[in-house]
Amino acid sequence: MQGSDTRSLEELIELKRDGGRHERDEIVRLVSAFVSGEMPDYQMAAWLMAALLNGLDGDETVWLTDAMARSGRMIDLSSVPGVKVDKHSTGGVGDKTTLVLGPLVASCGVPIAKMSGRALGHTGGTLDKLESIPGFRVEIEPDAFIEQVRTVGMAVIAQSPDIDPADKKMYALRDVTATVPSVPLIVGSIISKKIAGGADAIVLDVKVGSGAFMKSERDARMLARELRRVGEALGRTVVCVMTDMDQPLGHAVGNALEVREAISTLRGDGPKDLTDLCVALGAKMLVLGGRATDEAGAAELLRESIRTGRALDMFRRWVEAQGGDPRIADDPDALPFAARTRTVGAPSSGWVAAYDTEGVGKAAMVMGAGRAKKEDVIDHAAGIVLHAKVGDRIEAGAPLATLHAATDDLLTAGESRFLQAVRLIDGPVPAPALFHEL
Ligand code: URA
Repeated sequence: MQGSDTRSLEELIELKRDGGRHERDEIVRLVSAFVSGEMPDYQMAAWLMAALLNGLDGDETVWLTDAMARSGRMIDLSSVPGVKVDKHSTGGVGDKTTLVLGPLVASCGVPIAKMSGRALGHTGGTLDKLESIPGFRVEIEPDAFIEQVRTVGMAVIAQSPDIDPADKKMYALRDVTATVPSVPLIVGSIISKKIAGGADAIVLDVKVGSGAFMKSERDARMLARELRRVGEALGRTVVCVMTDMDQPLGHAVGNALEVREAISTLRGDGPKDLTDLCVALGAKMLVLGGRATDEAGAAELLRESIRTGRALDMFRRWVEAQGGDPRIADDPDALPFAARTRTVGAPSSGWVAAYDTEGVGKAAMVMGAGRAKKEDVIDHAAGIVLHAKVGDRIEAGAPLATLHAATDDLLTAGESRFLQAVRLIDGPVPAPALFHEL
């Protein structure tokens, strides 16, 4: 068999197009040639499509992930004592978990060093949520990031351009070439970022449902298995949970609105689904981080940290360390508030049978809460607060949601999109289970 020394980039594309299998050095070469610019976007786009259609086998996926993680600087967190546990969600609507989970887990002694992304399409991004806090900075040099984790116990920053540059370039290309929904490519993208970010152990929240990448339980399970297999093949401990994205998480969708909801959750007044999810994920992180021997004990530590105010205090210190106004922890009204709000009433009496979660995310996006294109500017105050969740009974005209936007025209656009995303029916509907598999 020919090795990559003799195969040109074009021949490597041909090999995958024809259903062949790469050697390790060929995958390394594809990644390094793409990052250095030797392989132009059009060649990588062709290879990505061939990989999506013909797949990568188990070894190829591990090699791709490893090559991507090594494509730039790798963060060394060895100066931070303890097991560094990272958490990643495959993305959803109203998913403000990091804002709650980070301070909650850090307040129990497991350091949180996290790199997060921005919103694109219907899903939100942690960085945009954080930037709705006046003064909050997400662009921090890697050395200052490590120092903050050591002194404060947590830091959340933007992915720096020199960490996993292969993922940055590949993801931008996948986004515009219809090559996002490929299990090996998603696994490579997620696990390589976590490894380059210095994680020893990773808790992955794989979302399932109408607002997630993986719409069916079967696909989500396949993704979860692969994430775990590849992470473990590269020497990391990986724990996956599968959770519901058939409706938004909590009630708030939109940046400052989600920060407000995260603060209420840290105070112990948050929505049940968000609180339960943070406690369940947090319990796994405390066990992995060696702070508890079992998940029941870990969950009790986390709930106590909420009750005693330690979790909220960690949030305050974290916000202050990154230049944000720590008073928002006690006075969430210091966060931006939209110029216009409108309460949308239920069009008929009945039970909320379903949300098209992606549709709710798009309704928030058209009002300014998200980006259709990378260059779009976000209105941090815009978004939606749901007053009814799946399974709730509602009377005609009773408040279904409150919309927040800068103008009445934006509210009108958001209202029509939102109403298309809700389905009311005559008979009772059970509330969906939050956890599909723990
Ligand atoms: N999230 C990522 O970081 N990468 C993907 O490819 C999909 C979801």
